[in-house]
Amino acid sequence: MDGLEIKGGAALRGDIVISGAKNAALPLLCLGLMSSAPLVLGNVPELADTILMEGLLRHHGVEVTRDGETVTMRGGATNYDAPYELVRKMRASVLVLGPLLARYGEARVSLPGGCAIGTRPVDLHVRAMQELGAVVELADGYIQARAPGGLSGGRIVFPTVSVGATENALMAAVLARGSSELVNVAREPEIADLANCLNAMGAKIIGQGTDTIMVEGVEALHAANYTVISDRIEAGTFAIAAAMTGGDLTLKGIRARTLDALLMVLRESGATVTETDDTIRVVANGRPIAADITTDPFPGFPTDLQAQFMAMMCIADGSSRISETIFENRFMHVPELLRMGADIRVHGGIAMVRGRDALTPAPVMATDLRASVSLVLAALTIEGKSQISRIYHLDRGYSRLEEKLGNCGAKLRRIKVA
Ligand code: EPZ
Repeated sequence: MDGLEIKGGAALRGDIVISGAKNAALPLLCLGLMSSAPLVLGNVPELADTILMEGLLRHHGVEVTRDGETVTMRGGATNYDAPYELVRKMRASVLVLGPLLARYGEARVSLPGGCAIGTRPVDLHVRAMQELGAVVELADGYIQARAPGGLSGGRIVFPTVSVGATENALMAAVLARGSSELVNVAREPEIADLANCLNAMGAKIIGQGTDTIMVEGVEALHAANYTVISDRIEAGTFAIAAAMTGGDLTLKGIRARTLDALLMVLRESGATVTETDDTIRVVANGRPIAADITTDPFPGFPTDLQAQFMAMMCIADGSSRISETIFENRFMHVPELLRMGADIRVHGGIAMVRGRDALTPAPVMATDLRASVSLVLAALTIEGKSQISRIYHLDRGYSRLEEKLGNCGAKLRRIKVA
């Protein structure tokens, strides 16, 4: 099994071009189900997860071709069944539900099952489809949804903010008869990206990026070319890497506005952060100063950067209180950081981190995507060699990570781990 050997201690210095956003690309790929006309997506990162999604779309009958980071889809779907053996590999597969229902009036999608960071139910997705007129049954581990006469517009009020449920509701509403109002929606930049691509395909959506989105249903969508936004979580990961290795990194092709909450706390912890329209430069000023964070839906501090920030707090000057409010089990990186000498105490959704002068080399294990990259960051600060096993988790969300970090002075290489 693939592992990563990291010889840390070097300050990261240089430029990194940020790739397309995984969490924008995954719902955007599902738009290939919504029209038989060609949809050409640019800047689609080549990741385990995007490759899995392309495979799922082919399973549905969509013609999918990839040329570098450009994916072209045409032909629409010929079957509406997303089987367990595909869906269980990636939760985002549930995002085929809205498109299949909207375009074909039926969908049979396996319940995704849990994952490392929590049970991650899909009740909000199901209720949104029902609000638009679908008949939905949960049976045999599947969501079985039908809308024989097509979907009809409605008012959906989300009791809690959900990125995926917002995306499924949005994709379903664009082909529903009449207008829809989606209230208390997620405001992540990836939602606006999905809405903007749908509008390029002929949808009529306004309000994306705010907490209420209005949709005027249309008969059909047409061909479009669209470029996926850059990955704010990848950029945030590298920004933290610069701050915690005493480095100086310039991140290219990223809008700083998508990372305000992180950049504010990086400045609080002593880094110098400068921005232009499409670059962010992070320069460390000595050892980071401890700071507290609470994760929150966008524009709050992203839960997808919590593990990475915790890695930085493990070597910060002072104590940090980290509150994870989005997922019930997103501290899987803690036991592994403890193996590296960190001082962390967890009580429910709160982790108290007391900064150490330095961590120590240790073999550790990746458990989920963001936890695994937090271990990479921790290892980059440690003189001596650390080994991280099960790094297939990393490959789900970071393209060419070794190359990008290696070009900035990091010493890491893939190894075989028993
Ligand atoms: C998306 O997951 C992202 N994944 C996650 O990134 C991210 O952590 C999460 O949003 C929060 O920002 C993709 O975009 C592919 P949610 P999603 O629905 O949509 C609960 C990564 O590392 N909930 O916003 O599944 C849920 O349990 C991944 O790239 C329900 O209760 O997240 C959670 O507590 C990890 N019922 C909260 O809402 C539902 O029907 C927020 O989840 C749906 C969600």
